[in-house]
Amino acid sequence: MVVNIERLFSKRATRLRASEIRELLKVIKMPGMISFAGGLPNPKAFPVDAIQACINEVFKKYPEKALQYGTTEGSTQLRGELAKRMRKKHNINCELHNIIMTNGAQQGLSLIALSFLDPGDTYLTSVPAYLGAVQAFHAFEANCESIPMDEEGIDLDSLTRNLERLRRTGINPKFLYTVPTFQNPSGETMSLNHRKELLKIASDYDFIIIEDDPYSELIFEGKSIPPIKSFDTKGRVIYLSTFSKILAPGFRLGWVVASRAILEKLVLAKQATDLCTNVFSQYVAYEYIHGGYLDEQVEKIKKMYKHNRDIMVEEIKKKFPSSVKWKVPAGGMFIWIEMPKSIDTRLMFQKALANKVAYVVGEAFFPEGGNYNSMRLNFSYSDEKSIREGIGRLADVIKEELSEDYQQDLDPNGV
Ligand SMILES: Cc1ncc(COP(=O)(O)O)c(C=O)c1O
Repeated sequence: MVVNIERLFSKRATRLRASEIRELLKVIKMPGMISFAGGLPNPKAFPVDAIQACINEVFKKYPEKALQYGTTEGSTQLRGELAKRMRKKHNINCELHNIIMTNGAQQGLSLIALSFLDPGDTYLTSVPAYLGAVQAFHAFEANCESIPMDEEGIDLDSLTRNLERLRRTGINPKFLYTVPTFQNPSGETMSLNHRKELLKIASDYDFIIIEDDPYSELIFEGKSIPPIKSFDTKGRVIYLSTFSKILAPGFRLGWVVASRAILEKLVLAKQATDLCTNVFSQYVAYEYIHGGYLDEQVEKIKKMYKHNRDIMVEEIKKKFPSSVKWKVPAGGMFIWIEMPKSIDTRLMFQKALANKVAYVVGEAFFPEGGNYNSMRLNFSYSDEKSIREGIGRLADVIKEELSEDYQQDLDPNGV
């Protein structure tokens, strides 16, 4: 008898959707394609020799431990180093027992979803939003309320209006998810004032803040703004970060900083999920930080990505029509582009692929859809030559699209 497997899947599993970004990553491999689509670090930045040296150290000093199961919380030594870094670089007042290691920040998001979201619960996110977080929360059958971003990172008036509306219908959101620094996908950074205000609003309406921070170390200019977690004295903020953008995503190493009460729950969720984070990569990462390599590595990445950003900005300025809007991000890996409203980047995507250049359609970052005229460009992955060539190709596609649009306006039959 043929198994009707669909019938057996859980309701939750049937809600799982393919990530448009994952699908798009496939196009990177097409011959001749210049892809600004993925959110990939530049492989030329991977510190292969230093990592090799650290691996040798691990095998010399503690091979048995590195190849054994570890505790669910993660390596004490590594968490100790991270606690030091959190205090020194980010002004977050924490000790190692406020940190757990996760298999990437993405697992941290899933563990938070597992621990906080019941079916039908509501959470808030600023939009455009990191798609991976929306996917993780969606899997736990939660309802999403989108809060638009503004020039200070989140529209706080809209947030309070929405909170009041929800309160009138008896809904108290569990948390607000935000990437306050060099956000994926918009490249925007939340102002200091909005960070403090947001924490106050969270306290007034009694929800927690999930602060996802993979990019703040990749700052190209200006002054760093302290994370929201650094102002949190009441355990209202869960902070996540990762080695993916400052070392290598293949390590699958992230961490969560939170109060003990929250971490105890996340540890139980993690125990049920995967017992412990990759022990071997934790030992290698410890040797890497302890050996004093990380700061130098971050400087190297910043220099490389700033150069790439400058090239992309220079080419966009030169080649994109003036009706296309964008902002220069002060760090991170992405530039957000807004076309004239008449352009639908979903429809334009096939033309871009035909012209051997790829981007991510902006709509993918809005859980409720819309914003069809936007797109995300990644500048970390490509080299200078590809950035110049790719932006040229994209500019040609945009110009063609705009001129078709113009022709349609002239054509009395064109609707
Ligand atoms: C905002 C944000 N959060 C989390 C992640 C996932 O990171 P990790 O590789 O640590 O799972 C990413 C990856 O691109 C990201 O952009």
